[in-house]
Amino acid sequence: MRTLALTGALAGFCILAACGGGGTTPPKRASTGAAKIGLLLDDLRQERWQRDRDLFVSRAEELRAKVEVRTGEGTSEGQLKAANELLDAGVKVLVVVPNDLEKAIAIVDAATAKKVPVISYDRLIRGADVAMYVSFDNVKVGRMQAEALLSRAPRGNYVLLGGAQSDNNAHLLRDGQMEVLKPAVASGAVKIVAEPWIDGWDEGVAKTQMASILKKTKNVAAVVASNDSIAKGAIDALAEAQLAGKVPVSGQDAEIGACQRIVAGTQTMTVYKPLKTLARMAAGDAVKLAGGQSAGSLTTMNNGKKDVPARLLDPISVDKSNLDVTVISDGYHTRAEVYGSK
Ligand code: GAL
Repeated sequence: MRTLALTGALAGFCILAACGGGGTTPPKRASTGAAKIGLLLDDLRQERWQRDRDLFVSRAEELRAKVEVRTGEGTSEGQLKAANELLDAGVKVLVVVPNDLEKAIAIVDAATAKKVPVISYDRLIRGADVAMYVSFDNVKVGRMQAEALLSRAPRGNYVLLGGAQSDNNAHLLRDGQMEVLKPAVASGAVKIVAEPWIDGWDEGVAKTQMASILKKTKNVAAVVASNDSIAKGAIDALAEAQLAGKVPVSGQDAEIGACQRIVAGTQTMTVYKPLKTLARMAAGDAVKLAGGQSAGSLTTMNNGKKDVPARLLDPISVDKSNLDVTVISDGYHTRAEVYGSK
């Protein structure tokens, strides 16, 4: 289950057809027809995955590819079933957001048996022969979350609300968070009073966990929440204890609710990950792999089985001071949506 060393580095079924632009020029395809790509998501519960799907499909369309989108409805069994259906449908490459970092090995094995390369999208599949991994630097996301809170609460009781333990990113985030917190813990300035993993990155689970922690620990100095849905749950529990806005809380994904909570002062920060760059890049790589081309020069990330060729993008730390010049200037959210005014 442990994470990694860095070296060198839908539910629903739709068929879409596509055409060219931006960066990767559409491959000159003989009469074989458009490249067929399978995009296999975990689920669409969190706001970002709908964006990933739409951005990926529209870029693949620009590159004259066909995309079949499926989700595993939040289960690894559902994902394996959907993967086999996509493989039976003749996809030439499979782009997967794994529900479970190890159970997804079965998906890669099924694809490999059909000589179909697998791209691990955003989350790494461990212990499998994946062709590529495209994501953000998730250790850096964790560092940014802890740095933002440590600068506001250099001492006291810390709560770490980790993501789903079945998600490799949750472990990378925790590594980054602990890298930053370790000296403060060693000096005794900071005490980690609780560090649960939140199943499914679920808001309701986070609220329940935070409420029970608050019953045991009155003076919580900061909550290192690993993403915005977990932050929302924690802040709801803090609000019920009249502590919302008094305890710094981190997040990730720059969801609209999180940006509004940052303006309101109940959430301290979030980590913005420009999904447009990630999704368009992954679509370009998928079209290349589907056409039997290599994806070009890459770094690598070891997944316990091999050094996986990887592309890792930089995340952006966001708080009240730079909302305008990050998520708003990028068009991720409008000023009206974030501030509720023009
Ligand atoms: C992670 C992803 C985060 C967050 C979470 C919950 O793997 O990197 O952006 O959304 O899943 O879906």
